[in-house]
Amino acid sequence: MSKGSIAVLTSGGDAPGMNAVVRAVVRSGINKGFDVLGIKRGYRGLLNKDFIEMDLRSVTNIISSGGTILYTARSLEFKTPEGIKKAAQNCLEMGVKGVVVVGGDGSFMGARALSDAGVPCIGIPGTIDNDIACSEYTVGFDTAMNTAMEMVDKIRDTSQSHDRCSVVEVMGRRCGDIALQTGISCGATAILVPEVPYDIERDVIARIIETKEYGKQHFIIVVAEGVGGSVDLAKYIEKRTGIESRATILGHVQRGGSPTLRDRLVASQMGYEAVKLLAEGKSKRVVAMKNGKIVDYDITEALDMKRVFDTELFNIAKTISM
Ligand code: F6P
Repeated sequence: MSKGSIAVLTSGGDAPGMNAVVRAVVRSGINKGFDVLGIKRGYRGLLNKDFIEMDLRSVTNIISSGGTILYTARSLEFKTPEGIKKAAQNCLEMGVKGVVVVGGDGSFMGARALSDAGVPCIGIPGTIDNDIACSEYTVGFDTAMNTAMEMVDKIRDTSQSHDRCSVVEVMGRRCGDIALQTGISCGATAILVPEVPYDIERDVIARIIETKEYGKQHFIIVVAEGVGGSVDLAKYIEKRTGIESRATILGHVQRGGSPTLRDRLVASQMGYEAVKLLAEGKSKRVVAMKNGKIVDYDITEALDMKRVFDTELFNIAKTISM
């Protein structure tokens, strides 16, 4: 006999691996005796009662696909007290006893409000930015970095042929993790991230001039979206150093593509854990990774945590980018 229904939704910016989470939630939910519903287009779908029944075969072959089969959207209405009330009412009418929310901090705030309105919710960090303070890893990060790395490698080919400087802007509005790890992996001469104040002369121009003296003839500068200004930076580098420079903004290419092994694996672990928590009667929790292990936190506790930027890694980047 069914234990009732649980539902899953994806919210905020999509991320490779979200489908793997949906698959894990559906399969773990059915395994634990729940009926599982998918909610289309995040909280907007919850307000519009856009629910679909998910069976074991509904998630066949999605572990390797990018995007989210449940779609994602932003909903201003859901943020209002009336919106929350309506969403909770819709869950009640659909017999939904718990919701797994895959997304970022904004999505977790929604999950907290819905939990407070009587619908137990569990959050799973799904965003390419790796900007969720409570978790050392977010689903989608590895795939996005590998995509960025592949793109920068291609840019390097042409940069090298022309003895140029290439400024490459990667995603990450508040968080420089994609820039830092991609920059190190691509041998960037300089990496600019929102977490570390920088001085263009000292941290970019002087580094280019210095490494040129050591024989370097082409240069890669990786800039996080949160720092921005890559087109102007390329112009400035050319003016100051005489090295022909070009800017490339990678943009949404980083959000697509088949998830890497790491994203599929973490997504599967976190999806399983979220269902386990709901089955145990838990609510208002976020699944996270700590020291490589899956853990969970109270949502408010998780939202109050402050992200710690990896300054040690940043210093390594500076030391070896000669
Ligand atoms: O949160 C992921 C992210 O890709 C950020 O890196 C970026 O700033 C933002 O989403 C872009 O959002 P949108 O697709 O709504 O423009």
